[in-house]
Amino acid sequence: MADPGLREIVSQIGESARGPLTEALTLPPAAYRSSELYELEQEHVLRPHWTGVCRAAELPDAGDYLTLEVAGEPIIVLRQRDGTLQAFPNVCLHRMSHLLMGCGNVSRIECPYHGWTYGTDGSLLAAPYMNGFDITGRGLHALRTETMHGLVFVSLNDSAEPLERYAAGLPSVLEGFGLTDHIILNSGERTFSTNWKAFVENFIESLHTFMVHPETFLPYVGPLQAMEFGEQTSANFTFHDLKATPESGMQALSDMAVPEDKRDAFFQIGIFPNSFLAVSPTQSSFLTFQPDTIDRTRVRYSVAVHPDFLGDADPAAFWAENMAEQMEGTLDEDETIVNLMRIRSSFGARSPISPLERPLWEFQRFLTRQLEAVPGLLD
Ligand code: FES
Ligand SMILES: [Fe+2]
Repeated sequence: MADPGLREIVSQIGESARGPLTEALTLPPAAYRSSELYELEQEHVLRPHWTGVCRAAELPDAGDYLTLEVAGEPIIVLRQRDGTLQAFPNVCLHRMSHLLMGCGNVSRIECPYHGWTYGTDGSLLAAPYMNGFDITGRGLHALRTETMHGLVFVSLNDSAEPLERYAAGLPSVLEGFGLTDHIILNSGERTFSTNWKAFVENFIESLHTFMVHPETFLPYVGPLQAMEFGEQTSANFTFHDLKATPESGMQALSDMAVPEDKRDAFFQIGIFPNSFLAVSPTQSSFLTFQPDTIDRTRVRYSVAVHPDFLGDADPAAFWAENMAEQMEGTLDEDETIVNLMRIRSSFGARSPISPLERPLWEFQRFLTRQLEAVPGLLD
């Protein structure tokens, strides 16, 4: 049977999103494999909003940079001389060469193709052999770049609303964890063979943990039926608290200044469209899911700990001894299970959503707001 067309897929998602959670259904299988929907998502779901790109602590010194893609656009995030962070397109203004690769530190950006050179503030400083071409006032476009509790977000949309307004309520959810001071233990990228929405869904819901992570994750959290959905959850983010167990190492240490109601918190926070944060008083994982293609998703992640939890230990040694096995094991398990999804099967169906999968419905509500606003789509 042929998949429904784009309008039908969007209205099917909308029907579930508009009704109560008790009547909600999972996304239609076609939503994971429609190339028309995929194109629309890049333009109307990912591009207009905010994507988590890294932690401020990953780029401590002036000239520190990292590169990644946001909604299919190559970008650079670079620590400025004045201490702020600024993102730019990673595309030369001459003939569109990639400017910087990977991560590192630069005092200026020299294009590897014909040597056009930019300051770390993006301004064009030199364009060799260009026959008197006036470089004054030219430079890389400054992309919207904002930081919240040490988490850095970029938007490709110059008129995106400020991050604080976009994720109104999130700063108070994050308050008290000392995230800005968290010390990075490990960061990296992995690529997974599934549609980006399936990956977002996998991270924002915790129902699967009893089957997929019985040893790496489940012992660290309270009973699943006791998970609490955050009252501050808003239109653009969702969170729930899994409650850290005493043996998890995630509860606040006795001398840590963490508010009473957060001392055993373990928040799972989906920041729509494609960022995710897990945070407890002692540690945090920040992830972004970037679609490479319709069925390939690149995940960028960083794991960090509160300085009181790290103590005098060396971050790399602490990671290797205490956290690598559990964290990488969890990600391996997520990879295995998500790669098992048969999103191209014609026998795939829509299922009711468990109350414990509430974030899936919230994600649908977010998607629906974006997709139904696409001019002419539902006329
Ligand atoms: S493409 Fe960068 S200098 Fe030519
Ligand atoms: Fe998982």
